[in-house]
Amino acid sequence: MAFWSKRQTEHVISPQPQTPTESVPAESVNPLAKIDKIIAIASGKGGVGKSTVAVNLAKALEQKGARVGLLDADVMGPSVPIMLKLPTPTRMNGKLVVPPQHGNTKVMSSAMFAPQGRANIMRGPMAGNFVRQLLLQVDWGELDYLIIDYPPGTGDIQLSLSQTSPMTAAILVSTPQDIALADVGKAAQMFETLKLPVLGVVETMSWFVCDQCEKRHFIFKQGGAETFAKRLGIPLLGQIPLDPALTECSDSGEPIVTRMGNSPSAQAFYEAADKILGELSVLQEQKHDGLLSFSLTWQ
Ligand SMILES: Nc1ncnc2c1ncn2[C@@H]1O[C@H](COP(=O)(O)OP(=O)(O)OP(=O)(O)O)[C@@H](O)[C@H]1O
Ligand SMILES: [Mg+2]
Repeated sequence: MAFWSKRQTEHVISPQPQTPTESVPAESVNPLAKIDKIIAIASGKGGVGKSTVAVNLAKALEQKGARVGLLDADVMGPSVPIMLKLPTPTRMNGKLVVPPQHGNTKVMSSAMFAPQGRANIMRGPMAGNFVRQLLLQVDWGELDYLIIDYPPGTGDIQLSLSQTSPMTAAILVSTPQDIALADVGKAAQMFETLKLPVLGVVETMSWFVCDQCEKRHFIFKQGGAETFAKRLGIPLLGQIPLDPALTECSDSGEPIVTRMGNSPSAQAFYEAADKILGELSVLQEQKHDGLLSFSLTWQ
């Protein structure tokens, strides 16, 4: 049974453990069937800026004309509905919930089904089921990209997500200091175990430019993610400054790429989005080459 049902005019949560056959929809109604690429935004570490990157990347891709969906998979600490000021879904399409939109981006989050400010208190398996339903019982339609904002950690929910959906790749997010990068390294190991390609790392809070001197101040250490990326042999996809305007935009429900598109932080997100698209093309070519060599070997 779906966790959302209509009671009066509101959707309410009733996360029910499901049998495996119930949780995987039939091919004909698979809501992920028309999604070209599914991308995980993860870090292992909490509070480093995953949701900020996920939201601004989604909106940057939308501005480029892509059809984008954004799933907030952080059922314990959902932030996307605040960052995008989103309402509760109001429509169903058959058994699927129609996701609300921010501009043209389709968005889904557990917070849309909880009374405002209430915690989702649940054990790991229940949280895993919940997040699977957020993915599989939503009318995503045709999308070029579904961006998934992962919760921190390398546990039940992360594994459920990575094993439920046909993921294309993961992007790691980290601040520059060693303490954050240590946990981000664990997320990289998780994706290696799951055989999911890691596109690279986006560094956040890389430096602060004060309005008096225009100089970059490296509050959390300089070049941490670059060194980390070299060690793992993955690209550094971008560096986002520590910017009070970014916090302000997130808190007010309007991402910086929408509200202040010319700001240095928004430009940093656009550069990261371009680099990510470049890496996705490389990945696609590698897959294509892989298939060609398979067919040659097969013959
Ligand atoms: N580059 C930045 N400059 C200023 N503030 C930032 C920056 N990146 C993130 N923040 C702020 O830091 C806080 C944490 O960011 P965010 O919620 O994106 O992190 P998270 O990794 O998703 O956290 P969690 O692990 O709890 O989900 C938010 O208030 C956000 O607005
Ligand atoms: Mg988050």
